[in-house]
Amino acid sequence: MLLQQWWQLFNSTDVFNPLTLVPLLLTISFLFKLLRTWKLNLPPSPPKLPIIGNIHQVGKLPHRSFRALSEKYGPLMLLHMGQTPTLVVSSAEIGKEIMVAHDVFVERPQIRVAHTLFCGCTDIAFSAYGDYWRQAKKICVLELLTQKRVRMFQLVREQEVSRMVENVRQCCHNGSEIVVCEMLETIANNIISRSVLGRVYEREDGNKGFEELSRKAMDLLGSFCFEDLFLNLGWIDVLTGLASELERVSNELHAFLDQVIEDHLAMMNEDGDDDDTSENKDFVDILLRLQLDGKLDISLTQDNLKAIILDMFIGGTDTIAATLEWTMAELVKNPSIMKKAQEEVRTVVGKKQTISEIDVNEMHYLKCVVKETLRLHAPVMVSRQNSKATKLEGYDIPPKTTVLVNTWAIQRDPKLWDKAEEFIPDRFLNSQVDFRGQHIQYTPFGAGRRGCPGITFAVAGAEYVLANLLYWFDWKLPDSRRCEDLDMSDYYAIVIRKKEFNVDFYGDQMAVHVPFSLEVQAEARLLVFSHMNLFSPAIGDPISILTQDMFIGHYVLTSGNLRGICANRYNPWNRKSYQN
Ligand code: HEM
Repeated sequence: MLLQQWWQLFNSTDVFNPLTLVPLLLTISFLFKLLRTWKLNLPPSPPKLPIIGNIHQVGKLPHRSFRALSEKYGPLMLLHMGQTPTLVVSSAEIGKEIMVAHDVFVERPQIRVAHTLFCGCTDIAFSAYGDYWRQAKKICVLELLTQKRVRMFQLVREQEVSRMVENVRQCCHNGSEIVVCEMLETIANNIISRSVLGRVYEREDGNKGFEELSRKAMDLLGSFCFEDLFLNLGWIDVLTGLASELERVSNELHAFLDQVIEDHLAMMNEDGDDDDTSENKDFVDILLRLQLDGKLDISLTQDNLKAIILDMFIGGTDTIAATLEWTMAELVKNPSIMKKAQEEVRTVVGKKQTISEIDVNEMHYLKCVVKETLRLHAPVMVSRQNSKATKLEGYDIPPKTTVLVNTWAIQRDPKLWDKAEEFIPDRFLNSQVDFRGQHIQYTPFGAGRRGCPGITFAVAGAEYVLANLLYWFDWKLPDSRRCEDLDMSDYYAIVIRKKEFNVDFYGDQMAVHVPFSLEVQAEARLLVFSHMNLFSPAIGDPISILTQDMFIGHYVLTSGNLRGICANRYNPWNRKSYQN
């Protein structure tokens, strides 16, 4: 009887009327979803709001918000970023499970911006786990970023660092302050640019064309994208202007990279050189040569080449710049550590005019300083996705869940690190703990199959730049500011950077302190700049003598001119008084 009534009702209703059909389908799909997740044992979640889920609980500094939330909801916590389930991991053991032990957390979330910029995610970092990724990563690990290649790029590092040192000297000479973040971003960009593309591309007006474009690409990668978080709401990205900006930046980047590849091919045809070990080879040369010689297991299209080149550029620049910025900031904030590192650098290098890679290898304390920076300021959170449903710590993890391993929080976990929030490089002296993925409490470069292939390249660059900055200069904050007051707050743009970089001429500017300065005449300050031991130049050391507004010359320090300088007998306008 009931069945008969229901059948009549069904027949009398027009189920194919869109007004009836759409809500019906939506209800059915919702019920199915509910049934599917009903029985799942999901990890703990903070209460969520309709539609936006937990977005409102994650602020502008997600690494800090995640840590605060995990203190309440545990080291394995499921957030809902809009409609995207996001698993946040804040424990070293579970992090290891994700990165190394499990073989299902090997995908990356395929976000819209990456899809457009990296030609359908055919780079390495965003590529789907599979044959293409395996081959592309093999090229990267065995051809581009090997120890041998990194050594070959030492000339690039030397030339760029020497340019930077000269610029700092000019600032010394002019008595001007140095915007440290800007200087370090430039050196990171120049080293990567020359290694990857062969040169630093500048626009006709002198501005860094490619640097600007890749900065915009980085900003886009960190921007809020509706399509990634809400099914069916991608159209809002059109309204916010994100879609058109993405299109514009992507077109410009690809046109630029097409030109770079064309220029390299033209040069290769001209040179007819097939020696890929030559010191002048950059990543683009190496990739093109391997491609032309048929030495690759896969054939790379022009789009694949561009995606891989862009990956190297974007993967390397901001991460190295952030590491350098944080190291300099920590050293300025901790003068006793700065002194210890500086003494080591100056003892190892002695009175040489240049620092070699061999010298840097002997700077054990400097290496600990870089390691400690990467512990306290891990620049990147590891982001993965699981290919299929799996279990973790007894919880059910549905397929395609975004997983974020909060390395920043793990590396500050007081259960794992003594005085976890303090900058103590000595903790790494005589310690086996390193960043190559073997020690679960310390993984600034990730670990496992999807671990970072750029470790050797990044560390060689960062250590060399720092060794030079410490060897040639003494650093302090401008006069009125005390080290303890240095603002150490951060901001997040995919990479965790030191704050205030964007505030031009207002950020944390450090003055270069020229150690040996004497009042010679009331109107002119004489600055003696020793290239060797800055605190106590020895007889025989090369020195530069400058006033605040003019360069007087390079000399060798003799007992005669030292006595003269100390006795204030030298007239800065009379070059003769400095003659050796
Ligand atoms: C201080 C500098 C750097 C840091 C802290 C860093 C950190 C990371 C992290 C955390 C990952 C994710 C690892 C994972 O999922 O387990 C990664 C991946 C990657 N990094 Fe780096 N990186 C740095 C420098 C570089 C450089 C210089 C390059 C290349 C020139 C590079 C290229 C890549 C690539 C291609 C991937 C993707 C690997 C894959 O998905 O298989 N990185 N990096």
